[in-house]
Amino acid sequence: MSTNAQLRLDDKDYSLPVIRGTEGEKAIDTRKLRADTGYIAYDQGYGNTGSCESAITYLDGDNGVLRHRGYPIEQLAEHSNFGETAYLVIYGELPNATQRKQFGDLLRQHAAIDPQMQAILQGFPKDAPPMAMLSSLVAALAAYYPQLATNNFEADLKNFDLAAAIAISKIRTLAAMIYRYQNGLPYIPPKDVPFCDNFLQMMFSELYKDYVPTAEVSRALNTLLLLHADHEQNCSTSTVRMVGSSAANLFTSLSAGICALSGPLHGGANTAVVQMLQSIHDEHDDGTRFIAAAKSGSKSNRLMGFGHAVYKNFDPRAKIIAKACDDVLDKLGINDPLLAIAKNLEQAALKDDYFLSRKLYPNVDFYSGIIMRAIGIPVNMFTVMFAIGRSPGWIANWREVAANPKGRIYRPRQIYCGPVKRDYVPMAQRA
Ligand code: CMC
Repeated sequence: MSTNAQLRLDDKDYSLPVIRGTEGEKAIDTRKLRADTGYIAYDQGYGNTGSCESAITYLDGDNGVLRHRGYPIEQLAEHSNFGETAYLVIYGELPNATQRKQFGDLLRQHAAIDPQMQAILQGFPKDAPPMAMLSSLVAALAAYYPQLATNNFEADLKNFDLAAAIAISKIRTLAAMIYRYQNGLPYIPPKDVPFCDNFLQMMFSELYKDYVPTAEVSRALNTLLLLHADHEQNCSTSTVRMVGSSAANLFTSLSAGICALSGPLHGGANTAVVQMLQSIHDEHDDGTRFIAAAKSGSKSNRLMGFGHAVYKNFDPRAKIIAKACDDVLDKLGINDPLLAIAKNLEQAALKDDYFLSRKLYPNVDFYSGIIMRAIGIPVNMFTVMFAIGRSPGWIANWREVAANPKGRIYRPRQIYCGPVKRDYVPMAQRA
């Protein structure tokens, strides 16, 4: 196997080192390309660029493989829960009983939100987008915990365990508070119960009566969050790494990740899927209109929940979530017409040459919204749920950046395509 790649440019030969990952992934190291040749590597959208070395998640998009710290997502979904998987993603190993208890205790101890921060929430319009509120409130954590957010890697890493627990626990609590605020409901303080049950109680309890989730609902939420725990160098995670590479603290970097997640091509897709299914339902359509529009090639008419930047065969999370969706609806005795529409749409698209030839299959978002509806989560909170789930992955990636002694600030280059040099034109001479 080659250890170097040979490159011939302008009649000169160059040798570029080859890097290999533990799963056999191969890369040509182009770090010195510009210094040696005057050329840069051009890769719009970084689709073929390895921006880092990472030991967190392995993803093989051609074969539908997803593993966290070596553990297949299918095994984690079957045997683990969100809290344990969060620990694994962040710390690299499944926790033993003591570690699991300490981590759980830390999450519970830091679940509550400072009354002053609650006042920030009150300052938002009630109908503000929940992701806008969440990103602002997470950025504000840097102001409430300045000792954990010094913008100095060494100092911030010393307090990492605490900052990580605060971030995961409070993102969850803030999500519930945003929901309560938008619906004019009083806040329900966190309780001494497991992570997902705590969230469900803070969301759905009445003032003097606790909502107690059934085991099925609790399990469904755990599966949903666990399936989102990390996903390699996606748009929001790369954003967290990029912001973190400037030595920005964990909370600030997470806030940037939440902003990146909010777009409809990334985390916002789960909302768009349910809106699409609802529209098909309301119009008594069979999906033909959406499929035809999606084939037009316009970005604004895409079949939401279909296609993936890296999975070109199937999204392993989609398989798990489709089954979890059937299970939870069955156990809760819910007959959601949107599930039937989703299945019909999937069947129709999977017979259509447009989707087959472009390797467009359902992604994790295609069914996640239906689970959330079954649990009682409103559509405008779907992307916030994704943010709760993705927080361990963002945190683990920030830590890798902060702890990398050879790390450098993310600073891609570009090919400039604007006007060439020209002289300033005074106002009177302008057309
Ligand atoms: N519906 C219709 N056509 C599509 C779709 C779609 N959902 N996705 C891609 N295409 C077409 C696209 O128009 C292009 O066609 P052509 O070759 O004729 O120009 C071809 O397929 C390749 O598309 P691409 O833009 O190169 O694909 P990408 O890998 O850059 O985009 C994507 C990936 C996820 C942004 C895209 O598939 C998409 O917009 N899907 C819908 C949004 C969605 O479900 N997003 C959630 C992703 S999973 C959650 C997450 O991890 O963020």
